[in-house]
Amino acid sequence: MTEHVGPGPVRPHFTENDRPLPPEAWAELREIAARYPEPRSGLLPMLHLVQSVEGRVTPEGIEACAEILDISAADVNGVATFYTMYKRKPVGDYHVGVCTNTLCAVMGGDLIFERLKSHLGVGNDETTPVEEGRASITLEHVECNAACDYAPVMMVNWEFMDNQTPESAVQVVDDLRNGREVHSTRGPRLCTWREAERVLAGFPDGLADEGPAAGPASLAGLRIARERGWTAPEPDGGPQAVEQPATKEGAVDEADTSRAASETLVQETQGDVDPAEEKQK
Ligand code: FES
Repeated sequence: MTEHVGPGPVRPHFTENDRPLPPEAWAELREIAARYPEPRSGLLPMLHLVQSVEGRVTPEGIEACAEILDISAADVNGVATFYTMYKRKPVGDYHVGVCTNTLCAVMGGDLIFERLKSHLGVGNDETTPVEEGRASITLEHVECNAACDYAPVMMVNWEFMDNQTPESAVQVVDDLRNGREVHSTRGPRLCTWREAERVLAGFPDGLADEGPAAGPASLAGLRIARERGWTAPEPDGGPQAVEQPATKEGAVDEADTSRAASETLVQETQGDVDPAEEKQK
């Protein structure tokens, strides 16, 4: 243990020689910090690396980050406790997150979460017991994953499982527990949570290009626009010349116009309005 000599309160720092964190982990943490002009910018990927090594953010991992970045353990702790992707309790072999945010919830996310809790015998943010020959699962309800067009959505180690049902979700966790190969509905083979954490730390596994960049549901608006020959209007004089509403009332008028256009589009796509007829209005 050494004495801190940097800015901030004096505190004991653990060093590479004091800690059980493996030497290669220290080397990779330093490698991450060195990627950035300001080393502390590397803290987020460093914490992901800690999770890939330790299975969670441990006090040892926090101390290692603090030591390397010459900041306080409290600073590191503040970041680790702010973001929900950093876990203080050990995570199982697979992290299964069920979106129970509004849209997914009404589309079946709540049902999926309830079914998985009862099927796995765990509550929110709990992990199935370690069993010989079986992978463990940590179950958590998560907030919107910006994949609402594929609701209800489940994430396995942050890979998308789109358009789930309680039955498909149970099948996924059973396959994972029994060591069967499982693929995201978007293509990539699911790796373990620790492997995924290593990728998030910036050490690629070579699978980044597996699967599509965007699926049909996400591209529906683009497809409709292309079919109808719609393009975005060019602002006079380029993007900088876009006029901002001068008054609050002007902003409200523009919002009303935009809302009316959106409602027309929805009616058109549902077949309620003939686009040609609408154009003549
Ligand atoms: S509400 Fe579930 S992905 Fe948006």
